[in-house]
Amino acid sequence: MHVLITGANRGLGLEFVRQYLARGATVHAACRAPEQATDLAALAAAHPGQLNVLPLDVADPASIQALRQRLEPLTDRLHRLINNAGILVRGERFGQLDPAVMARSHAVNAIGPVLVTQACADLLERGQPARVANISSGLGSIAGVDGFHSPSYNASKAALNMWTRLLAQELNPRGVLCFALRPGWVRTAMGGEQADLAPADSVAGMIRAFEAASADQQLAMLGHDGGRTDW
Ligand SMILES: NC(=O)c1ccc[n+]([C@@H]2O[C@H](COP(=O)([O-])OP(=O)(O)OC[C@H]3O[C@@H](n4cnc5c(N)ncnc54)[C@H](OP(=O)(O)O)[C@@H]3O)[C@@H](O)[C@H]2O)c1
Repeated sequence: MHVLITGANRGLGLEFVRQYLARGATVHAACRAPEQATDLAALAAAHPGQLNVLPLDVADPASIQALRQRLEPLTDRLHRLINNAGILVRGERFGQLDPAVMARSHAVNAIGPVLVTQACADLLERGQPARVANISSGLGSIAGVDGFHSPSYNASKAALNMWTRLLAQELNPRGVLCFALRPGWVRTAMGGEQADLAPADSVAGMIRAFEAASADQQLAMLGHDGGRTDW
């Protein structure tokens, strides 16, 4: 099985790499600065021939195209794509919203995953039955909004949810299922130390749910606990 994971150098992305390697997959781990990705380098040394570390900035369309070219000699198919890279910019306030923060949040959290999926669509089609996971958030649920705390993050994850549905329209007929996954609140740089879940537990739960999910589970966010969160 060939798996491509974005934002793979730390946090949930790194844990996805660890757990797919443990499942015996060949992993293509994409991150902005491979030369600084020491945890990935250690994993590559421990799993010779099983892990490729590749450069990718999901907010840069040229970088996405370059990634697609770098995959060319490595594999002719992908069975899983985990669109994990994301940002949460803190401190936004109504009345002082910064359009640069709003645009950057959408570029990384919503547009990037769509462009990566589009660039890899032929590889996924050749890997069918294939699956795409867009790592969303409970904060992307429109029904669940209860405050104006991280609006650009909320809105960009809600957009990602819509894009997940749109991608499913294009890719389901080509043998590719598309899911929005909800990690829960996890102890990473983004989640903070007070969060409920260890990355290993969140990712184990997400992989379990994602690998077992049926096509009708594309219709809501799929939780790390297997539960469903309405859009
Ligand atoms: N932790 C939580 O509680 C939680 C809850 C719900 C959803 N999520 C989602 O889970 C995913 C992973 O989050 P995390 O908690 O692991 O966060 P994290 O520890 O902050 O890691 C974020 C990852 O995204 C990468 N990234 C950011 N901008 C990028 C770009 N332009 N191009 C490529 N990679 C980029 C970072 O790379 P650099 O090292 O280069 O910055 C890093 O690898 C995100 O989509 C996040 O929204 C997290």
